Amino acid sequence: MADITYDASSRCWILQMEASTYCIGLSQDESSLQHIYWGPHIPAATALEMVQPSKPSRAPFESSTGNSREEYVPWGEMRFSEPSLKVEYADGTRGIEWLFEEHGSERSEAGQTLWLRFRDRAYPLTVTLYYRVYNGHDVVERWVRLENTGGSGPVTIEQAFSADWRPPRRERYRLTYLHGRWGKETQIAETMLGPGKFVLESRRGTTSHQFNPWIALDSEARATEESGEVWSAALAWSGSWKIVVETMPYGELHCTGGVNDFDFRYPLNEGAQLDLPTFVGLYSNEGFGGVSRRWHRYELEQVLPASPEAVRPILYNSWEATAFAVNEQNQMELAEQAAALGVEVFVIDDGWFGERNNDLAGLGDWTVNREKFPRGLNPLIARVNTLGMQFGLWVEPEMVNRDSDLYRAHPDWVYHFRNRSRTESRHQLVLNLARNDVREWMFMTLDKLLSEHNIEFVKWDMNRSFSEPGWPDEAEHNPQRVWLDHVRNLYWVLDELRRRHPNVAFESCSGGGGRIDLGILSRVEQVWTSDNTDALDRLHIQEGFSYAYAPRVMMCWVTDCPNFFTQRTVPLHYRFHVAMAGSLGIGGDLSHWTLQEREEARSFIATYKRVRSVIQNGLLYRLRSPRTGSVAAAQYVALDSSEVVVFAWGHSQQFGEREVSLPLQGLEEDAHYADEVNDGTLYSGAYLAQKGLSVNLVGDFDSRMIHLVRTKSTR
Ligand code: DGJ
Repeated sequence: MADITYDASSRCWILQMEASTYCIGLSQDESSLQHIYWGPHIPAATALEMVQPSKPSRAPFESSTGNSREEYVPWGEMRFSEPSLKVEYADGTRGIEWLFEEHGSERSEAGQTLWLRFRDRAYPLTVTLYYRVYNGHDVVERWVRLENTGGSGPVTIEQAFSADWRPPRRERYRLTYLHGRWGKETQIAETMLGPGKFVLESRRGTTSHQFNPWIALDSEARATEESGEVWSAALAWSGSWKIVVETMPYGELHCTGGVNDFDFRYPLNEGAQLDLPTFVGLYSNEGFGGVSRRWHRYELEQVLPASPEAVRPILYNSWEATAFAVNEQNQMELAEQAAALGVEVFVIDDGWFGERNNDLAGLGDWTVNREKFPRGLNPLIARVNTLGMQFGLWVEPEMVNRDSDLYRAHPDWVYHFRNRSRTESRHQLVLNLARNDVREWMFMTLDKLLSEHNIEFVKWDMNRSFSEPGWPDEAEHNPQRVWLDHVRNLYWVLDELRRRHPNVAFESCSGGGGRIDLGILSRVEQVWTSDNTDALDRLHIQEGFSYAYAPRVMMCWVTDCPNFFTQRTVPLHYRFHVAMAGSLGIGGDLSHWTLQEREEARSFIATYKRVRSVIQNGLLYRLRSPRTGSVAAAQYVALDSSEVVVFAWGHSQQFGEREVSLPLQGLEEDAHYADEVNDGTLYSGAYLAQKGLSVNLVGDFDSRMIHLVRTKSTR
């Protein structure tokens, strides 16, 4: 049971979680909040033992406050590390001097929330720090509310991060993070941190392919996949963001982050409030595997809109088959073929609307193209439904082509600067969603689309980064707020659509995995992991993805060979086994699949339906990384340990080494497990843990899936 207690004598708050403890306390003069402890579960008394009276700084050129372990650093006084908050008041005063005002906490069924309010000593700014913990979890959710209580004009926010994390003082830390580019998302990188700042960020208006707002820290690179202490953090924000990990001259490491302060100014008028996005911290002493499993459980139980037990249906998407050349007939045919395989959602991608025959035109005109669908979409949707499938549709609502009715009517609706180019990317411009009229138009357009059709799945795409992020009409009213307001209005539209159409599931896509973060995950059922569907590349992308995000949300398609991205050809069973490691979809041109391929696909889809709840909602153990050898393997265990699914993927066999032994994890040692897929062999949990599961992989690109079910019988 998560629990937050307050110790009045030491003025400390102790946050107890499932297996970890977090402790903070006020400085004696109440002018700063000090971090005291974040690590394995300890009794409150031990946490309080760590409280140290503040001492005057003995370091020349430094102050005791500037050198202290502050929970949230307001810029002012002698503080020189990366701050969390920097403001300018209407009279030109810059810098904050705050004092503690009050605190409170609320308990809910899920957990407990603590808030601590600080007030500037001379100006009407209050800063409320929030901390939320959940029963059964090891996350601390932190966010901040800024309020201009009035009387001295607007307060300009120049930098406003959401939290500052402070792992304990140790020897050097290693930083692990996820980076990439289009077609190469969520690659794992690590670096030993020396003195100075390591900055991860997006300045693109969206989360980005380049860096994902997730990090992990461990001391001296001691953590492994299975063991060791790891402190991790992730931002719930889908716009430009920044995380700064800074090692200070006296050895202290801290990590602050939130909405990117680059090109950012936000006027907080009298009476206005601003809630900053949530920054979530998580501690585990079970290595990177333990950290990932804890992130996954948190996402399934507290972040995603669907219940923790829900499973994602198997999806077909026609993009790689027909691209922009969609029409009623070819989609009908693909739908028949998909249904025959056992697919559950049929999705038409780009090309169904406006004058969208290629990427030069049409974005913005969200009405059905009558040349391609003379009877509209409803006859096709009815057929898809009769075939037993849901119907899904692709949209890219934040974008417009110059060649579109929308742009011709509203050229001022895109981000632009006066006297500057409007730089196109993929021939498109970004709509200024910070504008309320654009927000209204977007909501009304999509609401109409969903109201007039039985659409049960929406793929929401976003295929370019921002450029020229200007809003000339607002020149007087700080147009730099677009960095924040675009995302807030995006969230608003999604939230409203979900409220009005609760039967519709959403997928977040941004040219593949360019918008994957905890913020969007609280509003969508799944994400499109990458446009790169090459099975071998996908093993790497999917491994990195799994560090931070749950397999259920990771959409994986089986597509055609040679793969359009890599020109590689691999067997169908290997492609299926890789895609079955997340949420399974099919993206190939089924009209070209042979009878044998269809038969194989039908059988894999039937198998996947039997095991998907374990894969999507179980506990993931990464047994072998694709980065370290020619065989990769992953294991999924049902929460009650009753079922186990193991995948082994071998890509290039050498020296005739066929047999791979995979010691399994997370099983009941004295239970017995039967191999359901193959010969029914019975293994004890202890055998599987110690001797391991033996898998025979032959030649290049061979793979296996083993499904073990706990039985009552003994050997
Ligand atoms: C980029 C996406 O990642 C693809 O899956 C596809 O939807 C295209 N956009 C369509 O333009």
